[in-house]
Amino acid sequence: MDHRPRVPLAVLPTPITDAVRLREALGGPARSPRILIKRDDLTGLGLGGNKARKLEYLVADALAAGAHTLITTGAVQSNHARMTAAAARIAGLRCILVLTAHSEAPALEGNFLLDHLFGAEIRLVPSTDPMLAVGDDAPVVAQAVADEQAAGRVPYVIPVGGSSPVGTLGYVQGTAELVAQLQALQIAPSRLYYASGSRGTQAGLTLGAKLSDAPYRLWGVAVSAGEPEKIERARRAANDAAALLGVDTRVTHEDLFTEQGFIGEGYGIPTAEGLDAIELLAQTEAILLDPCYTSKGCAALLRHIRQGAIGPDETVVFLHTGGAPALFTSRYRQQRAETAAAGRPTADESTGPR
Ligand SMILES: Cc1ncc(COP(=O)(O)O)c(C=O)c1O
Repeated sequence: MDHRPRVPLAVLPTPITDAVRLREALGGPARSPRILIKRDDLTGLGLGGNKARKLEYLVADALAAGAHTLITTGAVQSNHARMTAAAARIAGLRCILVLTAHSEAPALEGNFLLDHLFGAEIRLVPSTDPMLAVGDDAPVVAQAVADEQAAGRVPYVIPVGGSSPVGTLGYVQGTAELVAQLQALQIAPSRLYYASGSRGTQAGLTLGAKLSDAPYRLWGVAVSAGEPEKIERARRAANDAAALLGVDTRVTHEDLFTEQGFIGEGYGIPTAEGLDAIELLAQTEAILLDPCYTSKGCAALLRHIRQGAIGPDETVVFLHTGGAPALFTSRYRQQRAETAAAGRPTADESTGPR
């Protein structure tokens, strides 16, 4: 790993929190496994999150290519876009973000506010779906590339989520870091839960687990639909990353299990269980999940614990991949208010196993 060029952007290693209060809320050691939270929400770059690990390798690759400008895409509240904008500032690069939005003038809040604060140039793409942030961003990216080249600058396009083979290296390295921490603690967790979107994290975690002999089973939790295409994307990214590293290890479809039961209505649309998970983690551990990714990943872990699918003698890891800026949006505030109005139990009232 160490021979791959890498720009230091993240505060590493990230800590591990032993979530004893959360475990207590789930019935204590008699009913709940020990829960370790790997705090990649604390990577530090522009309010932190998993993308910092990918960007360390992507920005190094961009600089090696002589790039002047990072160009990337995402939804208007993309964490990846926000962190790319922050990384560009540190690396002395320009940044163009092509963001899909429902409005021509999205509210200046959450990640989108931070994109502006980091001085990114923003080009909006109208969403073609009334609920989901999906749009045809390819021509807008092509135009941004052409504009940069016409101005005599070299653009470097980062695919959505930073999920390229180079970006995948971030979680190969992240796995080596985690496995070393677990070895020092003399703990062998049975499962590692994490939220899975564009799949660069999955590709890196899966390749990394094989290379580092990780003790746990990976338990990816999908936050968006389209599994067959995404499995193939993860497989390719992992194996191209293995080739970059010059190792013979390969990842197959069988290695790429992802839980599908927690997507809800779709990408970016919070679920009731996820909103509950946000309240529970905030009120037990003062840890902030996000409405789009980590709340769904954590909801899967909580349900499995409450159902008794993970024994109290086991230890599990939850990889916290960040995303808290999305809590500071009118959409989240509104959804939280609707949840309260619907009269579902708050975390305080629902701390027992169920
Ligand atoms: C907070 C958060 N968690 C998880 C993910 C999923 O990572 P990946 O896109 O590598 O699957 C993302 C991606 O944007 C994210 O922002």
